[in-house]
Amino acid sequence: MKKICVIGTGYVGLVTGTCFADLGNQVTALDVNEEKIRDLQNGIMPIYEPGLAEMVERNVRAGRLSFTTSYKEGLKDAEFAFICVGTPEGVDGEADLRYVRAAAESIAENMDHPLIVVNKSTVPVGTGDWVADIIASKQPKPIDFAVVSCPEFLREGVAISDFMHPDRTVLGSTNPRAMEAVAQLFLPLRAPIMMTDLRTAEMIKYASNAFLATKISFINEISIICEKLGADVIEVAQGMGFDKRIGPHFLQAGVGYGGSCFPKDVKALAYMAQTHGMHPQLLTSVMEINEFQRRHVALKLHDLLGEIQGKTIGLLGLAFKENTDDIRESPALAIARHLLEQGAHVKAYDPEAMENSRRAVPEIEMCPDAYKVAENADALVVVTPWNEFKQLDMVRVRDSMKQPILVDGRNIYEPDTMKSLGFIYRGVGRGYDGNGIERSAAD
Ligand code: UDX
Ligand code: UDX
Repeated sequence: MKKICVIGTGYVGLVTGTCFADLGNQVTALDVNEEKIRDLQNGIMPIYEPGLAEMVERNVRAGRLSFTTSYKEGLKDAEFAFICVGTPEGVDGEADLRYVRAAAESIAENMDHPLIVVNKSTVPVGTGDWVADIIASKQPKPIDFAVVSCPEFLREGVAISDFMHPDRTVLGSTNPRAMEAVAQLFLPLRAPIMMTDLRTAEMIKYASNAFLATKISFINEISIICEKLGADVIEVAQGMGFDKRIGPHFLQAGVGYGGSCFPKDVKALAYMAQTHGMHPQLLTSVMEINEFQRRHVALKLHDLLGEIQGKTIGLLGLAFKENTDDIRESPALAIARHLLEQGAHVKAYDPEAMENSRRAVPEIEMCPDAYKVAENADALVVVTPWNEFKQLDMVRVRDSMKQPILVDGRNIYEPDTMKSLGFIYRGVGRGYDGNGIERSAAD
């Protein structure tokens, strides 16, 4: 059993702290947001993540997990301090490290015994050294510490499973003993533990996310070519995936990737390259294709509806992906904003993300369910592939719409089935796309 302080109770910190507690460790989860900590102390979750509420409750009840806003209290007796604060996109795409700096400074000012500081937040290559410099410079008196990079590979919506069943744990440090100590925390997970230097560990995180984003932009570009050439991208992806060098995962064409990671991490990696005089052509193309893909879905609506002005358009889903309430860089909200700018009336339903979305785009008419979204709509767009959209009563949906136009941005329906029901159906890359969508020269 180890004593761990986790700093930041967001999508990464709260899952990390709770899972460490579930493995039998003593965890204090710290956040500067007093409201969040008060809610957590009252059993109210600040985020939606399947299975998290129950796991938090169980570990709080067992006395393994507690919450605080005080660094003195959080670091008391702790052997490890995990930095899990957000690293949002800054200007020019550079990662904004102000929260990492604040956490490092607070650790330095409040530690009263040797500590292993673990960077779990996604931080630019070289940040580990930077965090060490901050701590060394801010300590009132020198106390031993080490910095270890331990990048997170958690997908929202399946974060607990990803924590408990990692493909690998990556550790980076100049201090082998500290790395060994952190490795002990992950031994129960029985997954490969890779130990390397700080910069390499930080680069593994960026390169992994950038590669996954590249795979998504690749299949999205293929999907548009499929629409021109009459091929079905779902079967193309299936055929590709049998090749072990390609694999079947992350080849679902759709509305483009969103979330708090891929968009900012690809930008940050490109920025790091550019500040060292490089021109990261592939990363730049990955971002351009991703931007176009969400516009591609909106262009289908223009193609099908002609005039968007004054039309009612229903969106199924608002979160950036299924099984989360996270709307950061959500393609659904980008599409909603575009349609509102074109003078459309936008209705939407999302099982978890409506509260967050209402604050972000108040002009959207929120509906209690998918059927209400379809009522009197000129077109319906699937933007987040929630399971509950997959077996809707589509006859009821069709009969309640003004026009049976269905744009399936996530290919959750079968084109032939929808067309036989009388829908004017457009998927993404599902064979010829009617009149087809020309990429404008600007793209
Ligand atoms: C995580 C990782 O930290 C980030 O590197 C990755 O790129 C995205 O996922 P996330 O958990 O999504 O970030 O961030 P967020 O949900 O914003 O939570 C960060 C938490 O840190 C917030 O609750 C915030 O209040 C807290 N915080 C911020 C602190 O506790 N201290 C600070 O100084 C700043
Ligand atoms: C991602 C990485 O997967 C994870 O390893 C890292 O730690 C954090 O960033 P996350 O962003 O939570 O996780 O979700 P993910 O499932 O990777 O989806 C990212 C985006 O890509 C979502 O918008 C999703 O809808 C989209 N996506 C994913 C596709 O469009 N097609 C796919 O095949 C897979």
